Parts: sequence; C-alpha cells; structure tokens
Amino acid sequence: MKSVASAPGKIILFGEHFVVHGTKAVLCSIDKRITATSQFVDERIVRIRSSLGEAEMDIDSLDNLENVQQKFMRPFFHVAKKTLMENSTKQGIEITIESEIPAGVGLGSSSSACVAVTASVNGLFRKLSSEEVVKIAIQAERTIFEQNSGADSSVSTFGGLVSYDLKSGFQPIPSRNDLSFIISNSAQVHNTQDVVRQVRQFKEKNEDLFNRLCKEEMDIINNAIISLRENNLNKLGLLMLKNHELLKQIGVSTEKIDLLIKEAKKTAHGAKITGAGGGGCIIALVDNSNIKDTLDNLRKISDCFIAKIDYDGLQYV
Ligand code: MEV
Repeated sequence: MKSVASAPGKIILFGEHFVVHGTKAVLCSIDKRITATSQFVDERIVRIRSSLGEAEMDIDSLDNLENVQQKFMRPFFHVAKKTLMENSTKQGIEITIESEIPAGVGLGSSSSACVAVTASVNGLFRKLSSEEVVKIAIQAERTIFEQNSGADSSVSTFGGLVSYDLKSGFQPIPSRNDLSFIISNSAQVHNTQDVVRQVRQFKEKNEDLFNRLCKEEMDIINNAIISLRENNLNKLGLLMLKNHELLKQIGVSTEKIDLLIKEAKKTAHGAKITGAGGGGCIIALVDNSNIKDTLDNLRKISDCFIAKIDYDGLQYV
C-alpha cells in the first residue's frame, strides 16, 4: 500500500520577519508542489529518499534525532516516530519526497515537505484532517527551526491567499484573485533560522526603530488587504516596493537582491524579497501587459519562473 500526499510551496506577499514579532503577514500558496509517498517496508527502519539526499534510522533509535547528519531530514523522522508511536507499531516505513520547489530560497519547501510528509505517513493508518496535519507539521518543523511562526505550514495546508498572525492564526482573504508573479532566484542559498536570528539581534539593538518599522509594516498590510480585495495591482505593487524598503532597513537584502528588484521595477507593478531574504528569491507582480518584458529582463540575470496562486492546499493523491 502506498499513501501519497502533496502540498504547495508559498510566497510571502507582505510581512515576513515582522510576523515573527507579532505583526501580520499576507501570503499565498503557489502552483509548485512537494509530493510525499509513504509505504511499509520489511526492515525495522525509517528510510527517507529525496533529491537532496537519503537517510535511514533504526526504529528504536528514533528518539535521537540529533544523530541525523542531514538536519533538514529531522522533521520527517519526527513525524515517522510520532505516527508509529500513536499507532503502537514498529513497522518500517519508506518515505520518498519529490519536489518542484527550489530548496532554501524562501519558497516554503521545508514547510510544504513537512505538510506532505505528515499527511502521507499518517495516511498509512488514517487520513488526518487538515487541522490535524498542520499542527503536527508545525511541531515537526520546530525540531529544526524553533522560532518558526507556523505561517508557511498553514498556507501550504489550506492553500489560497491568507493573512496570518501568531495570535489569531490563519485567516483566508476573501477574494479569488488570479494574481501572477515572476519568481526570480538570486541563487544565494540562505538559512531561514540564521536570518531570523540576525533580525532578532537587530531588534534588540534598535528597539525603537524596530517598533516603528512594525507599525509601518502593519499600515502596509492593512492597505494591501484592501488593494487585494479591489484587485488594484498598481497599488499592490507600490506597497510591495515599500515593504521591500523596510526589509532593507532590517538588513535582510543583498546586493544581488537589490539588483533583481531594480530590474523588476522597470516593468512590473512592484517587487520585493519573499521569505527570509539574505539571498533567496524576489517576487515581481505582473499581468498580461508586462509579464513578457519583466521575464525577459530578469532572465538575463537570474533563473525565474511564473507562479500563480494555488487554491487547493494539501491534497491526498
Ligand atoms: C520565512 O518564510 C518567513 C519568516 O517570517 C519566518 C517565519 O515566519 O517563520 C522569515
């Protein structure tokens, strides 16, 4: 028996980093997915296969996740351990992860892998509800990234366009905008946890400035939610550029990222970092009138692709 589930990656339209410190973020899932396939095996092991590497652990040593060399694999072993314990079995499991999402560049690959793996492994015993999946996926991701806000796993599970804050969680933004983005990859791989730590240090050294920036971010987000409801692309684009300036002030942009933004701005409605920054990707908001010119420009200096909002979220295949 095989249990297959897939979950989309995400982009953050507004509010990354500030969301960790209590403001809102606006994000959406995108039409690029990670698929996890789980099946029982005869050996008493958990084996994980992915394009980024392979790892296996004996079922009796699943308590020692620190022994897993490839740190990004730990959440998946955590999910396997929890699932086996809850179902009172020591049957071996093999999990295969296939991805359409580039890793480590701010597109939520780690969270969507946690969501897909949680649904797929548990599906060998019982199909979990989306609410159950997201809780376990966030816990799993916290085994390697304790301060993660849960925003990425939430949008990956439920799909669509949402706002998120730590207090009230996830709230769908009632619209079915058919927005198009160009995602341009700086090819500078970042570690989200390190960039989040760096921003916390910035906050500690610049408490007043950081509080002011949080307020500015909230204004941008409140206006962005109105513009999304009105489908006002010009206004949204300007708000994205404003948001990028705030991200620059907290030190998460790079020269390459600023160059990509400068190019994107020439033709797109707006552009900004998406995700943790420190490299990673930018998003440029486009429509039929400027998609080709923006893509041609950005392709000269980066790898890019077009993304649309995914409204499906987690899917059992
Ligand atoms: C990472 O995609 C988004 C951050 O705001 C971290 C988080 O929300 O957990 C940088």
